[in-house]
Amino acid sequence: MTSTTTPAPPALRLTGVSHTYSGQRRRTTVLRDIEYAFERGTFYTILGPSGSGKTTLLSLASGLDTPTRGTITFDGQDLTELGLGRYRNKHAATIFQQYNLLTYMTALQNVTCAMEITGAKPATGNRKDHALRVLDNLGLDRAMATRNVLRLSGGQQQRVAIARALACDVDILFADEPTGNLDEDTAQGIIDTFRDLAHEQNKCVVVVTHSQHLAAQSDRILNLRKGKLTEQVNTH
Ligand SMILES: Nc1ncnc2c1ncn2[C@@H]1O[C@H](COP(=O)(O)OP(=O)(O)OP(=O)(O)O)[C@@H](O)[C@H]1O
Ligand SMILES: [Mg+2]
Repeated sequence: MTSTTTPAPPALRLTGVSHTYSGQRRRTTVLRDIEYAFERGTFYTILGPSGSGKTTLLSLASGLDTPTRGTITFDGQDLTELGLGRYRNKHAATIFQQYNLLTYMTALQNVTCAMEITGAKPATGNRKDHALRVLDNLGLDRAMATRNVLRLSGGQQQRVAIARALACDVDILFADEPTGNLDEDTAQGIIDTFRDLAHEQNKCVVVVTHSQHLAAQSDRILNLRKGKLTEQVNTH
């Protein structure tokens, strides 16, 4: 007997996505007619020169902005129909290039605050214990977790931003150059975490990077150049 079930839609699909910034004098088209489907269980990296539109692409895919043209769907539903706020709260977490931490709070408060806003409930224990565990797994002990984030180093702040995204149970995780400020060992630990999230927890993980070394460890490498997104064969 043949199965009649239709295959599940990709987690995220970009169809004919173009984006133009309108300045006072001129318009800059950054993305041109992008077509791509991101699947669960896969770790993607996006490479591209500075100014090629990587952050712009992430801001559209993570529901922070809407494309000038084209559509973006999550599990087959248009993001604008689903609601960008709902998509960001329930389905997609973003680790920003500039961290975007709340600077009047401790590391722990940054994480628990995000969990409260998104309604994330840990499988065991309360939010605080879960947040402390996630921070500790990233090398931030209790003393660091309870310190104001401005009193942490750049690399430590980066890890708080990563913990904040990991503590919220989402389907898609976006990260904009997450290992730029980290030493090699810490960076490798973060890469391993991303890979495990994709392979063991079936998340869709999309990471923008300038590092060929990081990209070589992902399942699929994408290149953004002159507004076009193309997939590169990973020879590693
Ligand atoms: N809000 C904005 N208004 C106008 N132009 C913008 C805006 N944001 C980005 N741009 C322009 O769009 C282009 C792409 O920027 P984007 O930040 O997406 O690049 P990027 O690939 O992330 O670069 P980097 O590797 O340096 O972070 C750049 O030319 C930038 O100047
Ligand atoms: Mg950028």
